[in-house]
Amino acid sequence: MNDWSRGYVADEPYTVSYQAELAPAHLDLACRMMGAVWEPAPDMAICEIGCGRGYAALLLAAADPRRTVVGIDYNPAHIAEARAFAAEAGIGNAVLLDADLAELGEAEIARLPDFDLVYGHGIWTWVGDPVREGIIRLLRRKLKPGGILHLTYNALPGFARDLPLQRLIRSVASLLPGGSIPRVQEAIEVVRALADAGAVQLHDTPLLREVLKSADSLEPAYLAHEFLPEHWRPAFHADVAADMARAQLAFVGSATLFENVPELCMDPAQKAVAERIPAGPVRELVKDICLTRPFRRDIFMRGVRRADRTALLDPVVLGLQVEAPSPPKLSVQVGTAEFGPEMAEPIMAALAEGPQTVGRLRNLPEGRKPNAAELCVLLCGTPTCLPMPPGSRDVAAAVRFNRAAAARYGYVKGPRLGICAPGAGAGIAAYALEVAIAADVGAFPDDTPGQRAMRLAADTSEASLRDATATIERVLRDRLAVWRRFGVVQP
Ligand SMILES: C[S@@+](CC[C@H](N)C(=O)[O-])C[C@H]1O[C@@H](n2cnc3c(N)ncnc32)[C@H](O)[C@@H]1O
Repeated sequence: MNDWSRGYVADEPYTVSYQAELAPAHLDLACRMMGAVWEPAPDMAICEIGCGRGYAALLLAAADPRRTVVGIDYNPAHIAEARAFAAEAGIGNAVLLDADLAELGEAEIARLPDFDLVYGHGIWTWVGDPVREGIIRLLRRKLKPGGILHLTYNALPGFARDLPLQRLIRSVASLLPGGSIPRVQEAIEVVRALADAGAVQLHDTPLLREVLKSADSLEPAYLAHEFLPEHWRPAFHADVAADMARAQLAFVGSATLFENVPELCMDPAQKAVAERIPAGPVRELVKDICLTRPFRRDIFMRGVRRADRTALLDPVVLGLQVEAPSPPKLSVQVGTAEFGPEMAEPIMAALAEGPQTVGRLRNLPEGRKPNAAELCVLLCGTPTCLPMPPGSRDVAAAVRFNRAAAARYGYVKGPRLGICAPGAGAGIAAYALEVAIAADVGAFPDDTPGQRAMRLAADTSEASLRDATATIERVLRDRLAVWRRFGVVQP
């Protein structure tokens, strides 16, 4: 750890990634599902606290140049990289601030715009109290009335079974010399040995399985940032809600859409118990006791205004984010959520024709009609549709972002990134390889897959070019119409 690290990992940059839930239109949809009115203007101001290397913040800036996006991070290596990326992509509406959230002074805070939307993704659980206080201070001063916060964190009791695993990795690593990555890797080998030896407190959870196969699936820097921060502390929702209340924020709902529909989180007996408890943090605890969620994606609002949910959802426009998808299915706590065939057929047929409003879609089936919230969970809680906010179609800014991203992260299978898509006002989740192809189509719309392969393939050997051409043809067949729909490339 460095002197300025405050116990967080500062010797290795964090990984680059993009989460579909960050899309402002997705968060808006979640608010509408909960009957809460968020009215972000097209020129909204957005802040990401702990923005890492800036990928998401810059993508959101490029997706609509009318916005102002501020990314704050205390790791100068992150901010230097984000600024270089912004310059390469010609992004003029993003400010990357090199600042420690615990030390943001009055004058620095005063210079920031008032925000419509603040993201705290992957920070709250991993930092100590002075940083959390700094976050609350910033929110109290700078989140607009009616603005929202998207805060993710490791949640109790869902994380409880993994507490021994987290503590073991952190404690073993703290004994080891050297950099964060070799220390976390060596600590995971101790976990592996103990798991093989049948240690009863290493529970067979998805996280343990993920960690044990991490050599193939998780980036070492992710593991270091996930497991090594000294002040790591999971929290019950009620405690986070109490902290947010100090900044006048109230809980609205979850960015994981199905969690906003009690029938999909709890069976009828559990729901009956939950309904005996007034809506609020204690009912949320009951839900958390019924769900296996170790990670929460909460949305808080500063001053909640209420309206009818169906009236809020009906005008939202949804567009397919995959070509010819099969009707969506979602595994939830109480089974599988899906449309019956009589609902699926007209809904999917209408979407295949083009973007549709929720109101039109839910009225298409002849018999039982889905309610607006069910419809949104199935279409936008799975990678079937994305909400399409009215607004910018600045394809040029998106092409510049995608080209800069492709130049940095290359034509490779991983990592999971996002393609800047102005029609979504955000990103379409994609592998770096797809970002590179989308960028190439944006820059050279009329070229053939063979010409693209010449630019993208790892080398110009016949086999490599043949492989790349086949991959490009397949990706274009599956994705090109979607990219046109969302303004990634010219229609
Ligand atoms: C897990 S990363 C999340 C990055 C990004 N939000 C994402 O989702 O990819 C947490 C980030 O918080 C930053 N951070 C940690 N402590 C901080 C502090 N005191 N002030 C500002 N940034 C901090 C780290 O440098 C790191 O980039």
